[in-house]
Amino acid sequence: MENPLHELGHLVRQLKEWLLFQGRLGWLGRPAHEPLAQAGAEAGGEEPPGLAEVRAELGDCRRCKLARTRTNLVFGEGAPRARLMFIGEGPGAEEDAQGLPFVGAAGQLLNKLLEKLGLKRNEVYIANVVKCRPPGNREPESDEITQCLPFLKKQIESIRPQVIVTLGRVASQALLGTQRPLTKLRGRWQRYQGILVMPTFHPSYLLRFPRERHKTWDDMQQVMEVLGKEVSREA
Ligand code: URA
Repeated sequence: MENPLHELGHLVRQLKEWLLFQGRLGWLGRPAHEPLAQAGAEAGGEEPPGLAEVRAELGDCRRCKLARTRTNLVFGEGAPRARLMFIGEGPGAEEDAQGLPFVGAAGQLLNKLLEKLGLKRNEVYIANVVKCRPPGNREPESDEITQCLPFLKKQIESIRPQVIVTLGRVASQALLGTQRPLTKLRGRWQRYQGILVMPTFHPSYLLRFPRERHKTWDDMQQVMEVLGKEVSREA
């Protein structure tokens, strides 16, 4: 008789292939042709707060010191029923000026990535861990994250995306509540409240280190596989 451990390993590999195959056919999860923005809220259960309610609760937020130096609060942008959500760290100068997420240089690169994946910006949702710009583009401090994170969590609760992509260390660690380095998280599926999370590099990092872009491309292939969208394989 064959080594039972080998046989088990073989069975697991076969099962994995079968699940991937079925997933591609659209038999598992959501159908492959389903648009990225969901049609409507699922029936039953208590409705989570709408995005407008979350925005209203934030109001003219003065909960942390970032309020003193911001021009505009950057709440988030995109489809309220998006199946795919991106989470960045916090607004930069351009985002602060316009009140919109990822509209500066990093945003241009994110737009390029979306375009290459065949996604429209308005069919995903884009938000940040902190809603106000940290002065001089420094990283948000832990007290600022603590104040702001509950609002991001309410946004997620409202949107109920199928997949979240966290951009960079700060967003990945904040959402997942971990201190693990990005090198350990990137490219590996994580979960937040049952939602699949794919941590990847921040576009600002990829602007500085373009040779790393293929890794984020690979991470996004995993995301697209779960979402059931056909995407080109070339980086
Ligand atoms: N970087 C971020 O993390 N978020 C933005 O909105 C812009 C740049």
